[in-house]
Amino acid sequence: MRQPLVAGNWKMNGSRESIKALLDGIKAGIGAVNKAEVAVCAPYVYLADVQQQLNGSNVSWGAQNLSTEASGAFTGEISADMIKDFSCKYVIVGHSERRSLYGETDEIVAHKFEVARNAGLVPILCVGELLEEREKGITEEVVNRQLDAVINRVGIAALADGVIAYEPVWAIGTGKTATPDQAQETHAAIRQKLASMDAGVAEKVQILYGGSMNAGNAAELIGMADIDGGLIGGASLKSDDFLTIGKAAG
Ligand code: PGA
Repeated sequence: MRQPLVAGNWKMNGSRESIKALLDGIKAGIGAVNKAEVAVCAPYVYLADVQQQLNGSNVSWGAQNLSTEASGAFTGEISADMIKDFSCKYVIVGHSERRSLYGETDEIVAHKFEVARNAGLVPILCVGELLEEREKGITEEVVNRQLDAVINRVGIAALADGVIAYEPVWAIGTGKTATPDQAQETHAAIRQKLASMDAGVAEKVQILYGGSMNAGNAAELIGMADIDGGLIGGASLKSDDFLTIGKAAG
């Protein structure tokens, strides 16, 4: 049985003060979350604060991006080992905002997955189609292409060391959630694709849904057979909402 995972993606939000209050709220209520693992992915500069505040709690933490490079003359970049230095468990790779705003190709994302995994981080690999791609009926093709880039680089077995987040781009930050059936359809297709290569990996890998998941719709989405939790943007910035999603996951 796959453990549900509810991961917050804070994006470029918060301040030292607001993050302290948010984490205090999460820690105070985490006892009511029974089954799911809860994690937060913070901006780099707050990782030390997050580590200090979450150390010894049941909440995991991670970063939102990493460099493909190990060290050297890469101004402004952050390496996997630096992220590890703050005891991060997770790192998001290939978020659609990184792909669309910062030019991350499937190949760069695959490289980041590899580097994260090699450093002992758990990459949360984001995949998902644009609205025009869904309208053209090529959702599966797009998601398969994004997955194949990673599988071709690291191999199917290595995929089991990561988490997949299916995030339809048209649902991110728009308040337009995929219906549970729509999401389940793509999640099932992803799992089937993995199963055609390695049944064990397909059974093990958690596939999260992301895109306007909130306190009101989480239970129905996470209740679907192949949805193993959520990657939460906006609703992860309010501890009550975020914990409600954690509870909805069991
Ligand atoms: P959202 O973001 O929950 O604000 O739609 C999800 C994400 O981008 O990971």
